[in-house]
Amino acid sequence: LRAKFFDVIIVGGGVIGCSIAYQLSKQGKQVLLLDRGKVGGESSQAAAGMLGVQAELDIDNPLYKLAKRSRNLFPSIAEELREITGRDILLQHNGMLKIAQTEEAAIHLKEIVKQQQSLNEEATWLTKEEVLQIEPSLSEHLVGGIHFPNESNVSAVELTTAFAEAAVHYGTRIKEYSYVENLVIKNDICKGIQTNYGEYAAEHVVLATGAWSSKWLPDPLQTNTIYPVKGEAFLVRTNPVPIKKTIFGNGCYIVPKKGGELLIGATMKSHTFNKEVSLGGISELMQKAMEILPCLSDAEVSSMWAGIRPMTSDGIPIIGPHPEIEGVTFATGHFRNGILLSPITGHLVANQLLGIEQEQLGLDVMNPNRFFRQEMVMSK
Ligand code: GLY
Repeated sequence: LRAKFFDVIIVGGGVIGCSIAYQLSKQGKQVLLLDRGKVGGESSQAAAGMLGVQAELDIDNPLYKLAKRSRNLFPSIAEELREITGRDILLQHNGMLKIAQTEEAAIHLKEIVKQQQSLNEEATWLTKEEVLQIEPSLSEHLVGGIHFPNESNVSAVELTTAFAEAAVHYGTRIKEYSYVENLVIKNDICKGIQTNYGEYAAEHVVLATGAWSSKWLPDPLQTNTIYPVKGEAFLVRTNPVPIKKTIFGNGCYIVPKKGGELLIGATMKSHTFNKEVSLGGISELMQKAMEILPCLSDAEVSSMWAGIRPMTSDGIPIIGPHPEIEGVTFATGHFRNGILLSPITGHLVANQLLGIEQEQLGLDVMNPNRFFRQEMVMSK
């Protein structure tokens, strides 16, 4: 392959690709990061930026510990990125209230509190009166809720941009509007990539292509191993800002962002790459949001959008070496948790490529070989 040589080529300039590029170039690696559109132009700019570990994941989910570790990295990442880029990722430790709008939901949430507390996690059950004391603008049609004081949120856009800029600061080259057509493979070893602009050689290629990752899997795995789940969301302005904490309700969350706007999300529609905002989707979301926070009926809508989450067939990201092609690493399938998991994914993948010993932290469950093993069984 007669082409410019890089240590690592990262395909995909979302928050995951940018975080990996940052960690690798900080360690002195020559990195090329490519995106077929603009950096952060897909789900990373559609994300709500919630750092919801306890509110999003069951405590026995294999990702739980990893997600918590990643959430804990945010204060130092925010500081680091601010020093390097001057950017504020708008980290806010405002906590979350996961509310029960029915008696049935309350039973379920109380069970979650018990599980959380049994493992010494901070989570408190609040009665309706206690919830309303903290957030008086919420509708009285609620039974109670869990307070998770340690959940926080960031600006997904600022975080992704800051990772990209910090990577560039350490020498990463970014090429936007570069479509990777193929991996260049000789004797099951990846030598580089072929793009619409020509070929690039590298020792390693990292595939951080989110919902568009199927094409890197062998045929029998392309259908459902990784698939798109569309999410619609919108942003409103209200004066004064009616809530302090992120409110997690039934099929809807409301995130008070630094700067005063409220981000409301998100719908879930599987198996579509269509990014149009549908009237059905957004009106249902608006209805749910107003049931939780009635004063939203007077809010001014600033914008609405949709993004495509990368879901996997077992709900766990795909991170680790390609089992059949040497020199290729997957870092994809983060579904609803890409922003939250971006700092830890950057560390895990960089350490793996640099051969740095690390705690397993659930790397085994994310290993891509779990799907390839199945494929071998299927084809027998
Ligand atoms: N993490 C929230 C969502 O994907 O909607």
